[in-house]
Amino acid sequence: MEGLRRLRIALIIVILFVTYCSSSSSSSAPQEFQIINAERRIDLSSHIVNVFLTLKVENTGTVTASEVLLAFPPTQVDNVALVKASSVVGKKKKKTYVPLPVKPSTQPNGPNGAQLVSIFLKDPLNPGETVTLEVLLILTHTLEPFPAEISQSDSQLVYYRDSALILSPYLVKEQTTYIKTPSSKVESYTVVEPTNRVNTELKYGKYNDQAPYSYSPIIVHFENNHPFAVVEELLREVEISHWGSVQITEHYKLVHAGARHKGVFSRVEYQSRPSISGISSFKHLLLRLPPRVHSVYYRDGIGNISTSHLRVSAKKSELEIEPRYPLFGGWKATFVIGYGLPLQDFLFESSEGVRYLNFSFGCPLADTLVEKLTIKVVLPEGSKNASAVVPFPVEQHLETSYSYLDVVGRPVVVLEKKNVVPEHNIRFQVYYNFNPIFMLAEPLMLVSVFLLFFVACLAYLHVDLSIRKS
Ligand SMILES: *[C@@H]1O[C@H](CO)[C@@H](O)[C@H](O)[C@H]1NC(C)=O
Ligand SMILES: *[C@@H]1O[C@H](CO)[C@@H](O)[C@H](O)[C@H]1NC(C)=O
Ligand SMILES: *[C@@H]1O[C@H](CO)[C@@H](O)[C@H](O)[C@H]1NC(C)=O
Repeated sequence: MEGLRRLRIALIIVILFVTYCSSSSSSSAPQEFQIINAERRIDLSSHIVNVFLTLKVENTGTVTASEVLLAFPPTQVDNVALVKASSVVGKKKKKTYVPLPVKPSTQPNGPNGAQLVSIFLKDPLNPGETVTLEVLLILTHTLEPFPAEISQSDSQLVYYRDSALILSPYLVKEQTTYIKTPSSKVESYTVVEPTNRVNTELKYGKYNDQAPYSYSPIIVHFENNHPFAVVEELLREVEISHWGSVQITEHYKLVHAGARHKGVFSRVEYQSRPSISGISSFKHLLLRLPPRVHSVYYRDGIGNISTSHLRVSAKKSELEIEPRYPLFGGWKATFVIGYGLPLQDFLFESSEGVRYLNFSFGCPLADTLVEKLTIKVVLPEGSKNASAVVPFPVEQHLETSYSYLDVVGRPVVVLEKKNVVPEHNIRFQVYYNFNPIFMLAEPLMLVSVFLLFFVACLAYLHVDLSIRKS
């Protein structure tokens, strides 16, 4: 009897297991979507390209689904600095945006090496339901100067390559693309009927019923004299001193990444005809610094540069600097900027008694791309358990640095990121434990050094006197 009962229980367990497995496999049936309407606006007015996508997505499958895919051509993938998505709730003036997580997809690549990125919806979409998504893509290194070399009096022309059709893993019922150029000087553009150009706007579409992964290459050749300011390498050192300040030192390697300058540079021509001569060059740079900044300096390999202007207000500070020479295509400038900030604006204590620095990531230079950014946060000596929280993926590790009077060294949190754009200027935190007794270490050491010195002097004088007496 007992044996039979056990067998029955075992059977029930097996049946439950099988039904569980089959039900979970049916819930992973392919999610199916179609895009009812897509609008894409590409802004080419700077050297960093912004693409705004508005997608009305419908679940055409038989199961609820929450993962919407975006596709990128393989040539574009390395140039995507940022993908931000949100769903739109409500209509017209009452629209609100719900930010959504975006991650590289675990699905295999699409045809022709198209790479996929997943957007995860907050509320899964039932079959037949629709959702409106807004996506911001930021692309770098996508404008190619052509001609690649220009002289001082030429204006700069560039190529932009893309597809007239939005690359998508889904059927797109209706779509339109608008491309905004910085001026109405457009040398040429590919026509994919219907194509229209009015002033600074180029319109591709409307196109109907495009199959998944449809692609139609286009090239736009246009004038862009925007300063192509690129920081090849930026090292920001943030040093926390519990005695009241945060000291920042920033090392810049700046390059003009536009069409290379050819021929000789004439300063006379540059100064007498500023509106035509060197129109794509730049000579002023603007840095946005936090309010209450103090002890600002700006120097290069030769020494301090005095041509800088600092405007400090309650909300922000702006530093305008002028390198020793204007920068033309291919020219580089290396310089260092340093400043101090009040500690209480950036250092806080969490409810668990853990100290943390709350500081801005990214580069203070306005409208600039940073190819490689390294941030080193130097914590006070004796800090423990250092860890950083950054709202996007970065590489991080710990180091130890030594400065005057350090015994055990200071923990340094090192953060590294490639392809940093102004949208990355958001706050990050570095948490650490600190025992205030360590604050006394250095003063105590100084005091004991002076004491020793004093005692040594006394001893010396004493010995000296005793020699004279005899
Ligand atoms: C540069 O300026 C900084 C800050 O004003 C100052 O401490 C430093 O001595 C100056 N260096 C030179 C070489 O003038
Ligand atoms: C960091 O500072 C920003 C801006 O002042 C603030 O909005 C944010 O809440 C702070 N973060 C933390 C964790 O304190
Ligand atoms: C570091 O973290 C551990 C575990 O969370 C904790 O036990 C320890 O007290 C922390 N160190 C300091 C100096 O607070």
